[in-house]
Amino acid sequence: MKTRITELFGIEHPIIQGGMHFVGLAELAAAVSNAGGLGTITGLTQGTPEKLAAEIARCNDLTDKPFAVNLTFLPSFSEPPYAEYIDAIIAGGVRIVETAGRNPEKWMPKMKDAGIKVIHKCTSVRHSLKAEAIGCDAVSVDGFECGGHPGEDDVPNMILLPRAADELTIPFVASGGQADARSLVASLAMGAEGINMGTRFIATKEAPVHQNVKDAIVKASELDTRLVMRPLRNTERVLDNKAVDEILAIEREKGADLKITDILEQVAGVYPKIMQEGEMDAGAWSCGMVAGLIDDVPTVKELVDRIMKEADEIIAGRLAGMRSA
Ligand SMILES: Cc1cc2nc3c(=O)[nH]c(=O)nc-3n(C[C@H](O)[C@H](O)[C@H](O)COP(=O)(O)O)c2cc1C
Repeated sequence: MKTRITELFGIEHPIIQGGMHFVGLAELAAAVSNAGGLGTITGLTQGTPEKLAAEIARCNDLTDKPFAVNLTFLPSFSEPPYAEYIDAIIAGGVRIVETAGRNPEKWMPKMKDAGIKVIHKCTSVRHSLKAEAIGCDAVSVDGFECGGHPGEDDVPNMILLPRAADELTIPFVASGGQADARSLVASLAMGAEGINMGTRFIATKEAPVHQNVKDAIVKASELDTRLVMRPLRNTERVLDNKAVDEILAIEREKGADLKITDILEQVAGVYPKIMQEGEMDAGAWSCGMVAGLIDDVPTVKELVDRIMKEADEIIAGRLAGMRSA
């Protein structure tokens, strides 16, 4: 399949693995890139630019295909050294960056001067247009159903993708709720030129997380995610668990007075415990509604090959067969 996204990134299949805190390590990024998609190392998970440089080197050992690094610009108490992270990306020979969170405008000249292609992940048409205006090469349009931060507009992809297609000139991929060939073909029909998957890639053999996390995703239905931190305008879609029930109880009690410090225990520094130790109630962790469509743990290559094969069957078989002569 050839789209503006496969051409832009020099990849075989229009399938991207989005940055994921404590999941997007070299093993997963390389597996996705080796399968013909675009894998992504999550920059801030590494903790320092030096450690990111080492992780990029590890990924370069595991694949000779292109891969990306995610840089997330979220509100934080002390700003990470983004300039140094970008230096590590450039020095490591990575030429694709997935930005997310706040507007990456400040960092665009540094990245563009180094020949980096930037795909910005955002949750609205207005933010997509802003990304286009500041020189991003593509956008990842993240619908309300997505795992992680869906923004505050609550527009699902069935509306958001055609709206983005109506307004954007640069290519975009559909993000949020993408699991299989049906997702890919539907997203292409709505104007996207590929898909970005998060939750689906966690439930793969190569994802470097505890088996409990994969089992939880397979077990979950589309009814099992919750939105937390809405009163802070930092909404996150997470898998329901004991910690999430506590957060929601605190949110109900505090109402508009909620502060991040009220729920710090349930959200701060919990990812290593969940992703590495498999302590599934240790805190809130991002997960998409798409969990309801995930019921196996294939290898990344099996997953990507299956999506591409079945997409062809849908397009050339099912859809073509519906056309009246
Ligand atoms: C466990 C987890 C951690 C994530 N961490 C990040 C992150 O650090 N930075 C980021 O930009 N997006 C992050 N995301 C969002 C994904 O990159 C992707 O946009 C999202 O998962 C797409 O929705 P889906 O889960 O329905 O596929 C995370 C998602 C999950 C499930």
